[in-house]
Parts: sequence; structure tokens; C-alpha cells
Amino acid sequence: MKTIKIGIAADKAEKMVNQLNTLLANVQLFYMNTRGLHWNITGEKFFELHLKFEELYNDLNLKADELAERILTLEGTPSHNFTEYKTRAEITELTDVSNATTGVQSVIDSLGVLIRLERELLSLAQQANDEGTSALMSDYIREQEKLVWMYSAYLGK
Ligand SMILES: [Fe+2]
Repeated sequence: MKTIKIGIAADKAEKMVNQLNTLLANVQLFYMNTRGLHWNITGEKFFELHLKFEELYNDLNLKADELAERILTLEGTPSHNFTEYKTRAEITELTDVSNATTGVQSVIDSLGVLIRLERELLSLAQQANDEGTSALMSDYIREQEKLVWMYSAYLGK
């Protein structure tokens, strides 16, 4: 069986790289959308949400880098242009959202997309005996599930 340097089956590593690039593309779209929300949100919750969205995009920025570097560790190439991001991502561009409820709902929906892709990756990583990718996905899933709860609570849902 052909393996990559860290001992993972090459065909399984390639599958994970592909899925990690899809996750990366979605994270990048979500990142830009969240920056837009940080800038454009208006209303009485401005100060609260302006800060929350900043926390969120900073976290997504960190995750984009971690994902890209995991892809490189798995001997793949991280996607690094917006044309590819837009083709790969399920999350679409958000434009001119200033309403708090609409903005927060789009955050909840986007987190849902990430969590689903991460669960698929977790399953692929477990099949490949890839503890590094598994652990990363477990952390992301736990953190983002908590965010879904908190943003839903904000909406009273
Ligand atoms: Fe700012």
C-alpha cells in the first residue's frame, strides 16, 4: 500500500485533501460574509453583534490557515483563489445584509454547512486512521455546535 510521509494511505489522504479543500472554500466564503456583517449590521444590537462577528471572522481566519496547513501535511495543495472557492463552496456570497436577525440566521445556516462537512471529514479521517485530522474536526464540530446554540438563543429559537 502506498502511503504518504506520515504513514496514511495515499488514496485516503487524497480523498481527505479534496474534502478539506471544500471545507476551506466554505470557510473562506463564510469569513468574507462575516466581515460584511461586522461592517454593515445596524440597529440597537450594533455594538454587541459588531463585536461577535469580529470574534467569528477572526476564528474563521485561523481555521482557514489550519485547514490549509493540514492539507499540506497530507501532501495536497490548499485551494487559494476565490474563483475556486466560489465554485467549490456551498455557502454563497452575502450582500448588503444590515438586519440583525437575517445576519444571525445566515451565520447559523453557514455553521450548519461547516458542521456537516466536518462530520463527513471526521468519518473519512477515522477510516484512514488519521488522528490528526480527526482531532481537528472534533474540535471544530464541538466549538461550532456551541455557536449554533448561542446564536439560536440570541434569536430566541
Ligand atoms: Fe472592525
